Amino acid sequence: MGLDEVRADWTRLGADAPLWAVCVDPAKRDGGWDDDEFLASGAREIASALERLDALGLRPEGGRALDFGCGAGRLSNALADHFDAVVGVDISAPMLAEARRLDRSGGRIEFRLNDAPDLAGLPDASFDLVYTDLVLQHLPPALAAGYVREFARVVRPGGAMVIGVPARERRTFKGLVFRYAPWPAIRFAQRALLGYPAPMRMHPLPADRLAALLAPAGARIAASDPYWGGDHWEHLRHYVAVDGGAR
Ligand SMILES: C[S@@+](CC[C@H](N)C(=O)[O-])C[C@H]1O[C@@H](n2cnc3c(N)ncnc32)[C@H](O)[C@@H]1O
Repeated sequence: MGLDEVRADWTRLGADAPLWAVCVDPAKRDGGWDDDEFLASGAREIASALERLDALGLRPEGGRALDFGCGAGRLSNALADHFDAVVGVDISAPMLAEARRLDRSGGRIEFRLNDAPDLAGLPDASFDLVYTDLVLQHLPPALAAGYVREFARVVRPGGAMVIGVPARERRTFKGLVFRYAPWPAIRFAQRALLGYPAPMRMHPLPADRLAALLAPAGARIAASDPYWGGDHWEHLRHYVAVDGGAR
């Protein structure tokens, strides 16, 4: 699977069911998300993440935030309440159209299409905070690794990152299916049985692997907190200090 397939799948998901595809909940299919409720879930997430950064002594005081894989702008809008400027990057044009529809920042969010395997359009050290949640697991591991290295490039020394990603499957039926079943069987089940507009891959990123990707850039995981209980994956939210090493 390459980036073309990722783009095709998320373009389809964004066109058919953007809010559901961002926060998958069977009860929210077919327009089940209310816009305000959807954005409020992002506001809660960002408030708790910033509180945690504060407690760790890592919270940037305003400045610029990058929301990688911004989808419909759920988190970008919330970041715009705390930062002077926000850039939301996504690979799916229909997702970005939805993000622009939901933009309540008064013009302080720039939504950008990026369908490259890097963030070449963004300068070095140009963000105080890089935030990403619910994105890297949908990418083949080599592509996810490349973006993590790019996060370390675009964040300024002394800045911070928050990276939300499942570390491993839980030993539930669904978790074990994702771990052991061949991808064509999972894709078939998602499309034919569950009615997904396009398949959604899941690739956990273990914390030690993430730490190894960050270390060469002088970035270290300061805390890894479990979040989102009762799921089939062990989701961790990693709070990353960027000290600035060799770039
Ligand atoms: C589950 S949604 C999460 C959206 C958002 N982070 C949130 O939590 O509200 C995943 C998003 O990642 C985007 N995405 C997937 N691969 C990407 C890539 N290579 N570059 C940028 N965005 C990507 C998808 O288009 C989709 O909008």
